[in-house]
Amino acid sequence: MRTDTSAPALVVNNVHKSYGAHEVLKGISLTAEKGDVVSVIGSSGSGKSTLLRCINFLEIPDQGTFQINGEDVVFRIGRDGRCHPASWRQIERLRSGLGMVFQSFNLWPHMTILQNVIEAPVHVLGVKRNVAIEKADSLLAKVGLYDKRDAYPAFLSGGQQQRASIARALCVDPAVMLFDEPTSALDPELVGEVLKVIRGLAEEGRTMVMVTHEMKFARDVSTRVMFLHQGQVEEIGPPAQVFGAPKSARCKEFVAAGSH
Ligand SMILES: Nc1ncnc2c1ncn2[C@@H]1O[C@H](COP(=O)(O)OP(=O)(O)OP(=O)(O)O)[C@@H](O)[C@H]1O
Ligand SMILES: [Mg+2]
Repeated sequence: MRTDTSAPALVVNNVHKSYGAHEVLKGISLTAEKGDVVSVIGSSGSGKSTLLRCINFLEIPDQGTFQINGEDVVFRIGRDGRCHPASWRQIERLRSGLGMVFQSFNLWPHMTILQNVIEAPVHVLGVKRNVAIEKADSLLAKVGLYDKRDAYPAFLSGGQQQRASIARALCVDPAVMLFDEPTSALDPELVGEVLKVIRGLAEEGRTMVMVTHEMKFARDVSTRVMFLHQGQVEEIGPPAQVFGAPKSARCKEFVAAGSH
């Protein structure tokens, strides 16, 4: 794989995405250096999940450029004027190196926790099964779930399922981890255990882009905070600025509403 160790982990430039006549992303740019933790905040419908889905190529943007660890994602422009991946193999390979953690966990219900964690390394990346198992076991221990490795997801609490899905995302050695509101489906008493795991990853220097409504957490762990408003970056900066002294009136209002 062509990777440049000095390149930013992620460069997203001028991403546009419409659904029909509705332009949901109106030219978003974001650079995450290695070790950056970028929190994405904004009201419902502002385009946060769509942005993450474009970064992960679950949605193909209409326009925009992407670079992951220095590797350009190659698009060609179709007759419709929109982007199309030049190589789906490249998209698949890059996607498998982006650890995505969803609000609703998205574990395979018919597989044990261990099987969930080794699925992508073994079947997508071609890692040897015994090597993947060894790594999965150490990641499950790290998120406090080694004793649940042979259980099925339905027998775990929401907090445990989310920690398992974090272990699954880590098992591909992700260039960037993408979180979409990882705690908003959890009972309040289970939020802390998941935030603790994510905080540990931030402290280890993992590169992360995280959509969250946990304002205090975002303020504590982020290197930068991006406030989206109607598909545009209304404000981006260090957490002390975005939360403490926002320049934009809309951002100020949003942060004030979320802080009590
Ligand atoms: N597949 C789709 N087809 C049509 N419209 C969509 C689709 N996905 C998202 N949208 C629209 O795009 C807009 C942005 O949605 P998105 O899910 O990105 O918002 P969000 O900021 O993540 O909101 P929330 O905080 O509620 O999760 C919304 O108006 C939504 O209805
Ligand atoms: Mg969303």
